[in-house]
Amino acid sequence: MPDPVLVRSVADLRAVVHVWRREGLRVALVPTMGALHEGHLSLVRLARMHGERVVASLFVNPKQFSAHEDLDRYPRDEAGDAAKLGQAGCDLLFAPPASEIYPPGFATAVTVSGVSDDLEGAMRPHFFGGVATVVTKLLLQCLPDAAVFGEKDYQQLLMIRRLVRDLDIPVAVVAGPTVREGDGLAMSSRNAYLSANERSAATQMNVILKRAVADLEYGGDIAAIERDATMALDEAGFNPIDYVAVRDAGDLSVLGPRVDRPARILAAAWLGKTRLIDNFSVLPRAVAGNDA
Ligand code: PAJ
Repeated sequence: MPDPVLVRSVADLRAVVHVWRREGLRVALVPTMGALHEGHLSLVRLARMHGERVVASLFVNPKQFSAHEDLDRYPRDEAGDAAKLGQAGCDLLFAPPASEIYPPGFATAVTVSGVSDDLEGAMRPHFFGGVATVVTKLLLQCLPDAAVFGEKDYQQLLMIRRLVRDLDIPVAVVAGPTVREGDGLAMSSRNAYLSANERSAATQMNVILKRAVADLEYGGDIAAIERDATMALDEAGFNPIDYVAVRDAGDLSVLGPRVDRPARILAAAWLGKTRLIDNFSVLPRAVAGNDA
C-alpha cells in the first residue's frame, strides 16, 4: 500500500476533500497526535467502513498540554506514521504545522461544560478546552461525513459527542473499542515512556479494573469497590492515583450505591513519570446476566 498523500495546509486539505465529495465519495476522519500504534490503526480500519476515503490528522496539539506536561518529549515519527497509515488504508495525511492551526492572533476557545468538568477535567484543567478547540477546527477544516475516536479516551469521546451535537456539526461520531497489548495493557503512545519494571507493573491497571467490573456486575457497593481498586493500584506501585471512578456510561454522572444502569469504570494513575488511563464498561446485574 502506498503512503497517504501528505498535505500541510487547510486549503490543500479542503481541495482534495472537495473533489472526493463531488465524486460522491464519503470521507471519514481519524484525528491523532501521531506515534501511531495498533489502537490508532484500528480506528483507521474502522473509518474505512464509514467512508470510501479516509483522512488521518497528525497534530501534537500544544493547547491540550500544560506547561509542566510532556509536549516537548511527546514521541514523534511522521515518516513511520505515514507508512503505517498507508498500510491501514488511509488515503490522506493532514500534518499541519502549529502556525496553520493557531496562526498569530488566534483568540477563540471552545469549551464544553458538564461531561468534561470532572475526572480528567479536574486533574488537567487545560486539557479538554484544548481538545475541544482543535477537534472543532479539524472537523470544520475537513468536513468529513464521519469522525472516529477511541473508547480508550472515554471522557474525551463523550465530550466530542456533546460538542458535535451542541454546535450542529454535520458529522457522525463513531467510537472504536480499546486495543490492548497481550497482557491487557491499553495501547498508548505514552507506554513508550515506561521502564521495564514500570511496564510489568502497568498491566495491573487493567487487571484491577477488570476485577472491579466483575464485583460491580455482581452487585457490589460502588464506593467500596472504588476504594479497593485504589488500594490495589497503590500496592501495585501506582503513585499518585488521580482517580478510580464508576460513573453513568452516557454522561459520567455519579451513581450509587450500586450499578443500576450502564456504567463505566475509569481510572488514571502514575507509574514514575508516566500517567496511564484506562476504562471498562460495567453493565447492571440484569443486563450483565449475573442473576442466575
Ligand atoms: P491520540 O492520543 O493520538 O489518540 C488519537 C485517537 O486514538 C483517539 O481517538 C484515541 O482515543 C484513540 N486511541 C488511543 N489509544 C487507543 C487504543 N489503545 N485503542 C483504541 N483507540 C485508541 O486523543 C488524541 O490523540 C487527541 O486528544 C486528539 C483527539 C487527536 C485531539 O488532539
